[in-house]
Amino acid sequence: MKSSETRASAVDLGRGLKLKSPVLLASGTVSYGEELSRLTDLSAIGGLVTKAISLEPRTGNPPQRIAETPSGMVNAIGLANVGIDRFIADKVPFLRKLGTSIIVNIAGRSIDDYAEVVSRLDAVPGLDAYEINLSCPNVKGECMIMGVSPDATRDIVQELRAITSRHLMIKLTPNVTSISSIALAAQSAGADSLSLINTVVGMAVDWKKRRPLLTNVTGGLSGPAIKPIALAKVWEVYNAVSIPVVGMGGIASFSDAMEFMVTGASAIQIGTMNFVQPDIGERVAKAMEEYFSSPDAPTLVEFKGSLLTL
Ligand SMILES: Cc1cc2nc3c(=O)[nH]c(=O)nc-3n(C[C@H](O)[C@H](O)[C@H](O)COP(=O)(O)O)c2cc1C
Repeated sequence: MKSSETRASAVDLGRGLKLKSPVLLASGTVSYGEELSRLTDLSAIGGLVTKAISLEPRTGNPPQRIAETPSGMVNAIGLANVGIDRFIADKVPFLRKLGTSIIVNIAGRSIDDYAEVVSRLDAVPGLDAYEINLSCPNVKGECMIMGVSPDATRDIVQELRAITSRHLMIKLTPNVTSISSIALAAQSAGADSLSLINTVVGMAVDWKKRRPLLTNVTGGLSGPAIKPIALAKVWEVYNAVSIPVVGMGGIASFSDAMEFMVTGASAIQIGTMNFVQPDIGERVAKAMEEYFSSPDAPTLVEFKGSLLTL
């Protein structure tokens, strides 16, 4: 594939986040890229979003943490991750060599936690953006509180904006009454872009054993089952804000990715489908580049949000 300057599908999300393709791989579905890099060419995609990083290492919830559901899965991993120290020492050197943009997903228990992680990462060269996860549905009493309140969202984004000059992408949960009011709060506090949707609260049950399939009982539903919900939320947020929207939820093909772009997304993320087709990001990125390179095609900017409605 061509370099970012010459690619027809390259996209600039602002504040230094220039992607050579609109295709990103979603947090928590590709870990820190090591395993996936053996199965696909990650330099073909726009970027990789890491698993959520927290101040301390976390083991997450006890198993069973994942269950398959019709057209999707529920997970209650609970933000298991290596913690900031090991991330910087062991994971960043490898991530930097992938030849794609690196977006670090961050989770915490308090504003101070997030602020500490962001200031530590700011001293590390070679990272392109932060995706702030305010919406982890599987960790009781933690960041979920921030992601469902416009005031709490404004407070944390304001605090992080004062610390970093790197691109701040704020990740939104669909598990709220009005996602656009949270989106507007993030925008007014200085967010550079918004990514959505995180998983939808869901549950799977074995009626014969009379047990939930997840030890946590509920989890986050992801995969093709949530695509119509995700499209509706992207449409709502796109019409409310002026900063770029990064869409995700159930994307399983080039066609799905284009549905999000025409609905208003400037870029997209692919999550659950990485478990099914490890090279899906590369394939969708190549298909998008081919489409937008065609002389008859609209430019990516013309195409974005050009959905025709009555
Ligand atoms: C196993 C798993 C782990 C996830 N971990 C994170 C995470 O650490 N941080 C985060 O912001 N989102 C996390 N997510 C949510 C995804 O990034 C994405 O928002 C969601 O799955 C919807 O996209 P999809 O339908 O393409 O998977 C996780 C999703 C899955 C399936």
